Parts: sequence; structure tokens; C-alpha cells
Amino acid sequence: MSGLYIHIPYCKQRCIYCDFYSSATREDKKTYIECLIKEFEQRKSELTQKIETIYFGGGTPSILTKDELSFLLTNILKQSELFNLSEITLEANPENLTFDYLEFLKKNTPINRLSIGIQSFNNQDLKILGRKHSAEEAIKAVKASQELGLDNISIDLMFNLPNMTKEKWLKNLQTAINLNIQHISAYSLTVEEGTMLHTLIDKQKLTLPTEKQQIEQFDLTIEFLTKNGFEHYETSNYASLKVNDEWLMVNGWRSKHNSSYWNNTPYLGLGASAHSFDGEERSWNISDLKEYISRIKNNQPLSEKETLTEKDKYNEYILVGTRIKEGLNPDYIKTNLPTYYTHFQTQAQKLIKEGLLKQENPIKQETPYTLTQEGSHLANRIAVNLFID
Ligand SMILES: C[S@@+](CC[C@H](N)C(=O)[O-])C[C@H]1O[C@@H](n2cnc3c(N)ncnc32)[C@H](O)[C@@H]1O
Repeated sequence: MSGLYIHIPYCKQRCIYCDFYSSATREDKKTYIECLIKEFEQRKSELTQKIETIYFGGGTPSILTKDELSFLLTNILKQSELFNLSEITLEANPENLTFDYLEFLKKNTPINRLSIGIQSFNNQDLKILGRKHSAEEAIKAVKASQELGLDNISIDLMFNLPNMTKEKWLKNLQTAINLNIQHISAYSLTVEEGTMLHTLIDKQKLTLPTEKQQIEQFDLTIEFLTKNGFEHYETSNYASLKVNDEWLMVNGWRSKHNSSYWNNTPYLGLGASAHSFDGEERSWNISDLKEYISRIKNNQPLSEKETLTEKDKYNEYILVGTRIKEGLNPDYIKTNLPTYYTHFQTQAQKLIKEGLLKQENPIKQETPYTLTQEGSHLANRIAVNLFID
């Protein structure tokens, strides 16, 4: 199985923290959609397996009108033999999710999962972040989706926001739980260079929580969401294990598409700045909308490529393994990345002594290594210790 990622690089305005590739001008939207369809036509031969998941990411995919989204979906899906779909996600912003738009999504498209960019249920936070919606609008959008029968809803929230306290964050989490959604992505705010947030912090106009407070908010997220029936399956991702108050099988509401990024499943990425992976090679499209359109029109190469060496594969495995619940499997390294097995075991044993890694069953050498609670605060350092330079 493989995944298809479609990048929609448009936003009404740029949020102060965001450094994802997006553009505030929308005049090229129609041409851009035609280019996405053309790119799919050109590159579908790269697929070696049927597509099981589609993810519309952004930017803001819900900026597409009903007609634009229909046109894009119809043209992508027309070759039904390429698909065996189980999950189609649309990233959406609350202000776009009117009842009419949601009804269209439910009744006229195969989209069956929404990932709603809420960020915070506190109106003061939303104002500081430059968001276009209020907390009330966000709640209304979730409830309307549910009324219409969209039953796989994820929301994005951020903690460690300026002036955020443990109490304020807990209120956000409680509001999320009360909405009976299936999935929560809870990101720790990162301050990216070149963003307005970076400037405001530099000029001391905004203050971030202290390091101790940041750790407390991360720990609180895990504790609170786990207690409320969510599985913490990746550093920033939590999936409900329940359906209609009954316990569901393991992995129930995990994001299938995002999980495929973490387990080596190939994916094709369409659009400006989109990344692709075919099992051996990674490629990334040019991050410039005008240039992307011009290259598609002139049949010029869109992307740069790199073939992964065994060392690259090992380092990527470490990076992912320090983020996912399944952890790092020594058996996998022994079989697939044997050159680095001794290095891995030596370093892992040192990290166990430091109390940062643990093994569920230390008697059985080959059981996976996972991060201890202390280790989860130092995931980057653990990865650096395990990497090969
Ligand atoms: C591709 S982004 C944007 C999606 C959507 N258009 C929106 O505005 O909500 C996906 C998610 O990444 C998270 N994100 C973006 N920038 C971030 C940052 N600097 N730190 C932490 N999380 C961030 C946000 O939660 C966001 O919803």
C-alpha cells in the first residue's frame, strides 16, 4: 500500500509561528489545481502499490471551493484501479467549515477524516497567534461535523504558547475531550527563524513558558489524554481507543496516512514543496508556487532527489524510533541495517544506564527500546547519541 499527499499552499494570512510553505495570493488557484492533476498523470507510473490513503495538507486545503475540490478529486480518482482507499483526510480551518461546506464534504466527496487546525480554545491565544477563528467557531465546526456523521475527527492544538500556564493548557485539553473526537495532535510550539513569532520573542514582546513549565505541559498532555482513553502513539499524536464509549482495538483511530511516514511506506507528494519516498529514494518538489507551475507547464523536472544510503536509513530509523510508541527494535536493525547494530547496542546500553531508555523485557535482548519519562524530555539528545555521523 502507498499514500498520496497533496499540498494546497494557500492561506488567508500567515500565522505568526508558521514556516510551512504557503502563499497568501490566490489568483493562481485554478492553474495550480490543473498542475496537480498534470503532476499526478506524469508521476503515477512511480507508484508500485495501490494508494490506500490520501492527505490534503497545507497551507489550508479547506480554502478550496466546493467546485475546486470536486474537480481535483474527480480527476485524481478517475483511475480507480490505482486506489484501494481507506482514509482520505482534509486539513481544514474552523472558519471554512460552514454547515454547507461540511454537508458537501460528507455527501459529495469520499473524504472521511478531518484534521481541524484549532490550535487553542482560548480566544486570547488565538488572537496572539493571528488566527481567523474564535474558540466558539471551532467548537461549532466540530459539532456540526459530528451532526453530519463525519466520525473521524482530529484536531491540532499547541502548548507552550506565550504566557501559557499548566491550568490554561489543561482547560484546552478538557475542552477537547468534551468534544468526543477521535484524534488529537498536540504540538509543542517551536519558534522558527524568520517567523513573526521569532521577532516578537527577540524583542521581548512575547514570553514563552520556562523550560520547566514546557516539560510540565508535555507531561500533563500525556497523563491527561492517556487517562481519558487516548493512546500516545507518537510524540505529538494521540488516538482515541474508544468508539461510542466501547473500547476499540489497538491502533483504532491512529492516522493511517501519517503512520505510513513512520513505517517506511512509500508515498507520492504532489504540489509545491511536497515530498515523496519510494522506499529507496526521497525527493522534494520546488518550494515556489510560480516556479512549480512554470515547470509543470514546460515539462521540466520538479524535484531534487537523494538515494538513501544504509547510514541515512539507520539515522532515519533512529529519528522515527525515538518518536513512536513502538520504539527502536534491535532485531530490525540487526536484520536490515547490520553495519550499525554493534554501535546501536553499545550506545543504547549507555542510555539505559543513564535512565533515558528502557527495555520492556531486558532478559530478551531483542525486545524494543523505548524512552523513559525522563528520556521523553530529551528525545533529541537520545537520537544524537544513537546517530552515526
Ligand atoms: C501544516 S500546519 C497548518 C494547518 C492549517 N492550515 C492551520 O492553519 O491550522 C499543521 C499543523 O502544524 C502545527 N504547527 C505549525 N507550525 C507550528 C510551530 N511553529 N510549532 C508547533 N506546531 C506548529 C499546527 O498545529 C498546525 O495546525
